[in-house]
Amino acid sequence: MTSVSESRSPLATARTVPVQLGSRSYDVVIGPGLLANAGKEIAGRLGAARCVIVTDENVARFHLPELEAALKRENLRAGSIVLKPGEPTKSFRELEPLSERLLEMGLERGDLIVAFGGGVIGDLAGFAAAILRRGVRFVQIPTSLLAQVDSSVGGKTGIDTPQGKNLIGAFHQPSLVLADTQVLQTLPLREMRAGYAEVAKYGLLGDAAFFAWLEQNWQPVFAFDETALTRAIETSVKAKAGIVSRDETEQGERALLNLGHTFGHAFEAWCGYSDRLLHGEAIAIGMAIAFSFSEKLGLCPAGSAKRVAEHFAAVGLPTRIADIPGSKPDVDALMRLMAQDKKVRRGKLTFILVRAIGEAFIAPDVPEADVREFLAGEIAGARR
Ligand code: GLY
Repeated sequence: MTSVSESRSPLATARTVPVQLGSRSYDVVIGPGLLANAGKEIAGRLGAARCVIVTDENVARFHLPELEAALKRENLRAGSIVLKPGEPTKSFRELEPLSERLLEMGLERGDLIVAFGGGVIGDLAGFAAAILRRGVRFVQIPTSLLAQVDSSVGGKTGIDTPQGKNLIGAFHQPSLVLADTQVLQTLPLREMRAGYAEVAKYGLLGDAAFFAWLEQNWQPVFAFDETALTRAIETSVKAKAGIVSRDETEQGERALLNLGHTFGHAFEAWCGYSDRLLHGEAIAIGMAIAFSFSEKLGLCPAGSAKRVAEHFAAVGLPTRIADIPGSKPDVDALMRLMAQDKKVRRGKLTFILVRAIGEAFIAPDVPEADVREFLAGEIAGARR
């Protein structure tokens, strides 16, 4: 077993990104081997507390014994709750028994919920933490790339309902995030690619140099080269931490994190939020076409959309409506689905558009007619 004094020790290699939110500030710790050191990290930063782990069957199979042992060594372990994997778990149906189990396990105000999994577990367990006894602390230990660079940071928690995704929820910041880069090695390649779309998003929305670095370094990132992978995650988390500390509840700037999401959510909804199109794949197409749309509107220099699409294609991400498996949506369906995303008001839509790679902005008044015309062209292209 790796001891904490060896060279792969998180103490030696971990990077720490603070999320500055006054009394609710917390650290995101990134690096290899954090799982084995989780007990020490939690006890050292948050003090002695009883920890209940909430996870799913897939994560439990690979990693739960290691986390349980790490918490036990510090006398923090109070039990584990293992849920079914997949988006349907993020529901009222699962929230009710989860909350009751947590109360039955005697979880008190000073205790901790440990959300150990991808975005579904982080959102659900975080929401349970937000409402249990009017709010208990929680630690995020994200196990997917998407969760490490996006959903575990920033305090958005919640569940889905038949009316849409994340429509019930709360802002509830974690007390600590431990992003163990080694855990990603058990992630299916398709999930890794989908998470990478969110990594690239930070370059595309605000950091052209980071996007250029990714173009040069995506192969070592996918090969789990520790330096490249940690740099990609750290740069992403720093970008998100900065935005969240300036605009925690999305009154303005935080909306930039939705680059590619207005189109992307419509594609996801078209595919029934199923494995047919993962969230990261949907937003990869969404970002690629947000660049094409910005070029078409004359907002962004020609060639940027091609560069984005070429990079996504190189890593194996979809970039066009034609890449959506199965039936393709028509314009009316997409407009209807985008309207459900509450971004259409009096014939105008809010989009995150771009002036260049690394320069996204909020465009609150895009005429519906322009969107329809653009999508009609994209869909015609998909059918050719
Ligand atoms: N995932 C977008 C946000 O946290 O605001």
